[in-house]
Parts: sequence; structure tokens; C-alpha cells
Amino acid sequence: MKPFEFFRATDTDAVMLSRLIKRTIRTSNSKDYDQQSIDLLCAIFEPERIVERIRNELIFLCFLGADLVGTVGLKRDYLRSLFVDPNYQKQGFGKMLVENMEGIARKNAISEIMLHSSLTAQNFYAALGYEYLEFQLHDEGPFILMRKGLSESPC
Ligand SMILES: CC(C)(COP(=O)(O)OP(=O)(O)OC[C@H]1O[C@@H](n2cnc3c(N)ncnc32)[C@H](O)[C@@H]1OP(=O)(O)O)[C@@H](O)C(=O)NCCC(=O)NCCS
Repeated sequence: MKPFEFFRATDTDAVMLSRLIKRTIRTSNSKDYDQQSIDLLCAIFEPERIVERIRNELIFLCFLGADLVGTVGLKRDYLRSLFVDPNYQKQGFGKMLVENMEGIARKNAISEIMLHSSLTAQNFYAALGYEYLEFQLHDEGPFILMRKGLSESPC
């Protein structure tokens, strides 16, 4: 895999992050969600709402050179906002972002991770060991509640 770098997001990253996430939603999630859902999802990721998240949770950015390739967030035991730029998908970045957050969670004595997966990402998370808990219908559309225990060693 090509060399990449992780940074913790700060307020000044909100505009760049918003662009990446909205582009990914419109490109990658539109095969599984209708236009109304896509618009509602994009509204969640306007820069001012991302600034709130940056201040209230742990959000990482992954760069390849100058390119922002992906992002993931963790709020207590809840993994959220995983997005990989469509041009960089299927190259291992999503897996690496999730495993990086799992490592941070373990160091913070978090014993399980919960998340709401998009329909798009359900099989991706299942391949990483997340188990299906429940189908949920939200205003923004259908999501799958999933969990993974972190008690076992990752190796
Ligand atoms: C889901 C997402 C983050 C995956 O990122 P990615 O960088 O393409 O994933 P990776 O390349 O790390 O894939 C890791 C493994 O999962 C598999 N995988 C990736 N996407 C998959 C999918 N949609 N369905 C099934 N398997 C998938 C890969 O083949 C790979 O398997 P391998 O390790 O055996 O080769 C990315 O597709 C994305 O941003 N999707 C749109 C946004 C989204 O729905 N995010 C989740 C919000 S909850």
C-alpha cells in the first residue's frame, strides 16, 4: 500500500472534509439511497455541522501526499462518518481507517464498537468482523446497526 499519513481534524479542515464527504455520498451511496435521502445525508455534513463534530469527537483524516483520501470518527464507543474518496476506494484505505480507530478504542479500554452502517457499507463492515444487530429506518433512510467486540487481541 502507498505511504499515507493520519492527522486529527481541526476546525480549519471542515470545508475540505465536507467536500470529500458530500462527493462520496453523491457518488457511492446513490446506488442504495434515493435522492431525498442523499440530500438529507449531505445536509448533515455541511462545514458548520462538521466543525461541531470536530470539537466533540475524534475525527481523523488520511492523506496520500496532498490528497485527502478518507476520514473516520469515533465518539466514545461509536464509530461514525467513515468515507473514502471514490477515486481511492478498494485500495485498503477504509479497512485501515477502521483498524486505526479500533486500535485507539482498545488503548482507551473500549471493549466494543457500535456503528450505523449504510446499506452500501454493510458487507464491508461484515468483512471486518462487525455483526448485524438491527435494521433501522431513519429520516435519512435505512441503516444497519452493527457491533464488534474488541476484547480479543487483533493479532
Ligand atoms: C465503505 C467504504 C468506506 C469502504 O472503503 P474502501 O477503502 O473502498 O474499502 P477497502 O478497500 O479498505 O476494503 C476492505 C475490504 O472490504 C471489501 N469491501 C470494500 N467495500 C465493500 C463493499 N461495498 N462490499 C463488500 N466488500 C467491500 C474490500 O474488497 C476489501 O476486502 P479484502 O480485504 O478482502 O480485499 C467506501 O466504499 C465508502 O466510502 N463508501 C461510501 C460511504 C459509506 O457508505 N460509508 C459508510 C458510512 S456508515
